[in-house]
Amino acid sequence: MQNATATKANQLIAASERLTLDPFTDVDWSIEVADDSQYHLPPEKLPLFGTRQWDSMTEHERRTYSRHECAAVCAAGIWFENKLMQIVLRHLAQMSVTDPAHRYLLIEVADECRHSTMFGEYIRQAGTPTYAPDTGGTGLDAVDDFPGGRAMGYLLILAVEELLDTCNRATMRDDMVHPVSRQIAKLHVLEEARHVSFAKTYLTEAWPTLSEAERAEAAAVAPFAVDYVAQLMVNDDVYAELGIDGGAEAARTNPLHQARIVADLAKLTDFVTKLGVIDDTNRNEWVERGLAA
Ligand SMILES: [Fe+2]
Ligand SMILES: [Fe+2]
Repeated sequence: MQNATATKANQLIAASERLTLDPFTDVDWSIEVADDSQYHLPPEKLPLFGTRQWDSMTEHERRTYSRHECAAVCAAGIWFENKLMQIVLRHLAQMSVTDPAHRYLLIEVADECRHSTMFGEYIRQAGTPTYAPDTGGTGLDAVDDFPGGRAMGYLLILAVEELLDTCNRATMRDDMVHPVSRQIAKLHVLEEARHVSFAKTYLTEAWPTLSEAERAEAAAVAPFAVDYVAQLMVNDDVYAELGIDGGAEAARTNPLHQARIVADLAKLTDFVTKLGVIDDTNRNEWVERGLAA
């Protein structure tokens, strides 16, 4: 591990000592979750927002839909965190324990374990089915298993974290939203800021050390992998459960949802453009997949 990453790891260890939250203390679970007197996600973050199906729903139906959508996003969050932890754990297995990143990345894994228990608690209390993202089996399992793949792994970690962060920030600030959702979102924002910081520092340092062939391979895989992650933001089972006719298709083709994905990924796409992962030769691939403007 080189210098900037080691220095960052030490800073993040200190930051984690200053602020590490316990979802079973810092979220007030005495408030009923299965309650539709408020939204569970900001309306503009719901994939169906602004469609014909949305327009035909009552205000109460929209809030119920937001509770199911929030449970589905929590389920996707658990799945993502499981996969991302595996990338980090494989990295840890190859790292010297005297490297400051070794200690920091174990803290990061511990953070993700608490987050997944928090998302799980929301689902257990939400009064919804236990949704699971439609991942098509083993998605992402081998993403860091090729030359240059470790950088690809951290790029994917960053993609997921930036995508969820934008939604979390909107949720924690929206006083129309259920307090438990807002508390979950705030806890996640506060702790994920460290993960984003580590991934960016690691990528900035590791990317130039890759061979040209490794960089080319990772750059070619990146839009497929990020697209795969972005697609998981719509879960067909939510629409089937609520009997919203054509809901999943309407959500996927919703121009507002598509614009939201581009906007929510902007911090990632800006960063990887500066890194050189996106350049003039491949930008179209990102644009055509609806990942960048
Ligand atoms: Fe997390
Ligand atoms: Fe994270």
